[in-house]
Amino acid sequence: MTPYDFIRRKKEGQSNKTGDINRFVQGYVDGSVADYQFSAWLMAVCFNGMNEEELIAYTGALMDSGERFDLSDIPGFKVDKHSTGGVGDKVSLALAPLVAACGVPVPMVSGRGLGHTGGTIDKLSSIPGFRTDLSRGEFKQFLDKTGLAMMGQGPRLCPADGMIYALRDVTATVESIPLIAASVSAKKIAEGAEGLVLDVKVGSGAFMKKEKDSEELAETIISVTERFGVRTRAVLSDMSQPLGRAVGNALEVAEAIECLGGKGPDDLRRLVLELAAQMLILAGRSEDQAAKETRDALDSGKALVKFREMVAVQGGNPRIADDCSLLPGAGFKIQVRADKDGIVQNIDTYRLGMLGVQLGAGRRTKKDIIDPGAGFTIEKKTGDRVQTGEEIATVHANDENKGQKIARELSDCFETGDHEVLPSPLIIKRIPSF
Ligand code: URA
Repeated sequence: MTPYDFIRRKKEGQSNKTGDINRFVQGYVDGSVADYQFSAWLMAVCFNGMNEEELIAYTGALMDSGERFDLSDIPGFKVDKHSTGGVGDKVSLALAPLVAACGVPVPMVSGRGLGHTGGTIDKLSSIPGFRTDLSRGEFKQFLDKTGLAMMGQGPRLCPADGMIYALRDVTATVESIPLIAASVSAKKIAEGAEGLVLDVKVGSGAFMKKEKDSEELAETIISVTERFGVRTRAVLSDMSQPLGRAVGNALEVAEAIECLGGKGPDDLRRLVLELAAQMLILAGRSEDQAAKETRDALDSGKALVKFREMVAVQGGNPRIADDCSLLPGAGFKIQVRADKDGIVQNIDTYRLGMLGVQLGAGRRTKKDIIDPGAGFTIEKKTGDRVQTGEEIATVHANDENKGQKIARELSDCFETGDHEVLPSPLIIKRIPSF
């Protein structure tokens, strides 16, 4: 079948056959299918979706474009976590060492920031010396040695996904449930995880704004990963406001370190403990055991010790775990103050994330260079009372003019009013529910 006929079938609402999907993806990787042809098919998928057989075939084609890591010689049930992305979402930085400190190995392949959302690899890259460009051998060696390894996708793992993702990012074809499900699943299956916990975000700072869509995405990913033998659970969590108080790479590393030391914002701690418990349950612990072990590891400092060990093994400066002033900082701290009395009704988290990108905490184009010290700290969250002149946030900037401009716009992200507001529940739903 020609690329033309393949695209036309999808455009007309017919399904594509497994062999044709494999050839089309392979053709894109080897250059015989052009960007414009692949984009046209992606857009047709956005409108017409995929059936189960197509989804499995497409996931398999993404995986088969690269290596599949075999971690079977590393003892223990290996569990990873994936977040669909949010603002201030530094969960992985605390979660992976915590779970490893409880004796469950965590192989974690993560991404860079995307659109308004931050990425684990950008956050880790703000640690002086820390390497995320590991070879397969190093990934396995570090996992074996410390019980966790954190790396970027790189050119070996699902290279077709890397190429297609970049295309989707510029052709408005990211927000498609089958395309997201295949992209996430392929990487997690290829990295060799045996278990996976999904943190599917819902709200203004998430890619999926509605609970119904997030639930469908979670169920779709579960259906794919389970077909490939990866035991998977999902938690739907709130992203209608930033998680914790820090937004921006080094600021988020510092907040994750606070959490690892048993302190830090309550919402971050609760979500980290929830996801860690789910990972331990997948590895065979009872619910009670999992809750107790994870809490103890956080409060005893065991998780922080594991984080320090991981940073050292991956080439970073382990002293950052004890002294966050060694992380990159910002020369200017600009306070944003409330211009009236009231209660925070709502935070426009998408807009706040985009302001972070403008400040340098994320990328507008693939070539942009991240400013690791740039970002925000947030003092007031939904439901909090504010008084005129009180600080609601601080902009951390290395370019004063840009920082001042963004500080003026940041205050518009906070809607204040007279009504008492209860923030949305942090943990919305578990799938499967139990
Ligand atoms: N994250 C991914 O890895 N892939 C997607 O398609 C969306 C988010």
